[in-house]
Amino acid sequence: MSTLEIADTTIAGPEDALALAVAQALRGVRGANPLVGAIITAPDGRVLASGYHRGRGTAHAEVEALAGFNGFNESSSTSGFDPADSTLWITLEPCDHTGTTGPCTEAILASGIRTVRYAVADPTGPDGGGAARLRSAGLDVGQVDAEQARRAGAADLNPRWMLARDSGRPFVTAHLAQSLDGRVAAVDGTSQWITGPESRRHAQSVRSRVDAIIVGTGTVLTDDPRLTARDAAGRDLPRQPVPVVQGRRAVPAGAALRGGDSWLHVEDHDPQVVLDRLTAGDNAAGTTVSSAWPHGGTRPGHVLIEGGPTVLSAWMGAGLVDELFLYQAPLILGSGLAGLDLPQHTTLSHALHLTLDAAENGAISRLGDDVLLHYAAP
Ligand SMILES: NC(=O)c1ccc[n+]([C@@H]2O[C@H](COP(=O)([O-])OP(=O)(O)OC[C@H]3O[C@@H](n4cnc5c(N)ncnc54)[C@H](OP(=O)(O)O)[C@@H]3O)[C@@H](O)[C@H]2O)c1
Repeated sequence: MSTLEIADTTIAGPEDALALAVAQALRGVRGANPLVGAIITAPDGRVLASGYHRGRGTAHAEVEALAGFNGFNESSSTSGFDPADSTLWITLEPCDHTGTTGPCTEAILASGIRTVRYAVADPTGPDGGGAARLRSAGLDVGQVDAEQARRAGAADLNPRWMLARDSGRPFVTAHLAQSLDGRVAAVDGTSQWITGPESRRHAQSVRSRVDAIIVGTGTVLTDDPRLTARDAAGRDLPRQPVPVVQGRRAVPAGAALRGGDSWLHVEDHDPQVVLDRLTAGDNAAGTTVSSAWPHGGTRPGHVLIEGGPTVLSAWMGAGLVDELFLYQAPLILGSGLAGLDLPQHTTLSHALHLTLDAAENGAISRLGDDVLLHYAAP
């Protein structure tokens, strides 16, 4: 779907153009793919079209912008509008490979646009980057000055995605549903439900994006969760994340998460071991019977840590959580289990610092009576 919401805007220069593309990118969701935004401008700086990447399996940002641009182009064809005079601005170098969508270079060549500016080089290696291909087809393609790209925010859109990618591991999102006094369960272990239905629906939408959901044996033995991704009506979605249990105790034969096609038990406390098992491939995965990850590929691109506190603390402490959704419910439990416990952090200078993340509807949103805080790890 094309977006033309910013079509009345006029840019003053490259930094301005990239800032608009960054604002588009931030409308997307984090996960297996990076956030990417694009705009297309006329010679006088008018914004003609815009687009952003909505997540894995959907159109790339420039393809979405080009759809809007092509529509504009068709409706202007009698007024002497020449697409070759327009400029495509993208936060990330266009791709030249066929994944779940076709190469962006082909869509750009078909559009008639002759000038392309991007902020960050495609990190996916020689097969990925499309700048050279477009140049060889005669287009004017260039990377925007690094300082301008930095000031526009384009250089800092995806630091944790880049880190995950460079480490050869999936992007890691974590959930935490807590009371105002930072508890995730009452003393007697009851925790369903601390948050309201709107928060739980959001949590379900995050589940629907991931390849695997990781919980500890404590959560399995206390809550017996199914860990399925469900739609707003509570029906299971066609693509289901693989449930992963971390911990040494046995997973009961009747555990609800064993009811799906596949599941995995990693009898180890080290999050890195869990990641190694997930990325090693199905044959090395022990008890899993998974033949493919729900969103394709031989390795998971995005995993979700759903807790409980022991497992989440281990992943947080290891610096392996890239993104945190904190559902803050208006309850004071008074006593009970803390959401995070990192006993090795004994003084203020040991504190883990997170930053509010403006991606996906902003860093702070209201979900019914709850508040959702969206954080990125530094
Ligand atoms: N509100 C929320 O967001 C939320 C979410 C999930 C759970 N909960 C609540 O949390 C409670 C369970 O808490 P929990 O901390 O026991 O759950 P947990 O983190 O799911 O499981 C902890 C268990 O996992 C194993 N484990 C895995 N990695 C470990 C590590 N790095 N270090 C130590 N042990 C590790 C240990 O058992 P082994 O002996 O088997 O190795 C440990 O006892 C329940 O009441 C549940 O309802 C709340």
